[in-house]
Amino acid sequence: MEVVAILLRWMHVFAGMTLVGGLLYQRLALLPAACELADPQRAEFLNGARRRWSKLVMIAVLFLLVSGLVNLFLTIKTFKPLLEDQQLPGLYLQLFLVKFVLALVIFFFASALAGRGAATQRFRDEARRWLTITLILAVILVAISNVMRSMHTGPNVKAVISNQ
Ligand code: HEM
Repeated sequence: MEVVAILLRWMHVFAGMTLVGGLLYQRLALLPAACELADPQRAEFLNGARRRWSKLVMIAVLFLLVSGLVNLFLTIKTFKPLLEDQQLPGLYLQLFLVKFVLALVIFFFASALAGRGAATQRFRDEARRWLTITLILAVILVAISNVMRSMHTGPNVKAVISNQ
C-alpha cells in the first residue's frame, strides 16, 4: 500500500472539503442569518466570522497546492508501468491546466471574501454574488478532478486509453 499517496490524497480531499464546505455554509446559512441582524451588529458578527475563517482558508490553500502538485507528479510518474507502457492521455494535462487556473481563481475569491484589505472590500460588499460565483467554479473544478481520476483508475481506464 502506498502510504504517502494515500496521505496526500487524504490531505487534498480534506482541504477541498473544508474550503468548499465552508463557502457553501457561508452562502446558504451564515449570510442569510446575518442579514436578519441590524446593521452595526451584522458587521461585527460577519467580521468576527471572517477573522476565524481566514486562517482556515490559508491552511486549506496551502494543503491543496502542496498535495495537488505532488499528486500530479506521482500520477505522471506511476502511470506508465501501471498501464503497460501507455502514455497518460494529453487530455489529462489539459484538464489539469484548466483545473489549476480555476483553483487559483477560487483561492483568490475565497481569500478576498475572508480578508480585511481595502482593495478587496468590494467583494465583501457583494458577498452573496461572489460566493455564488465561487461555488459554481468549485462545482466545475470537482467534476474536472473526477474526470481526471477516472482516466487512470477504475473500470473506465482501458476505454480512455484506447480512444486517445
Ligand atoms: C478548490 C481547490 C481544489 C479542490 C476542491 C480540489 C478537489 C479535488 C478532488 C475532489 C480530487 C479527487 C480526489 C480523489 O478522488 O482522490 C482532486 C484530485 C486532484 N487534484 Fe485537486 N482540488 C483543488 C485544487 C487543486 C490544486 C491547486 C491542484 C494542483 C496544484 C490540484 C491537483 C489535483 C490532482 C493532481 C489530483 C489528482 C487527479 C487524479 O486522480 O488524476 N487540485 N482534487
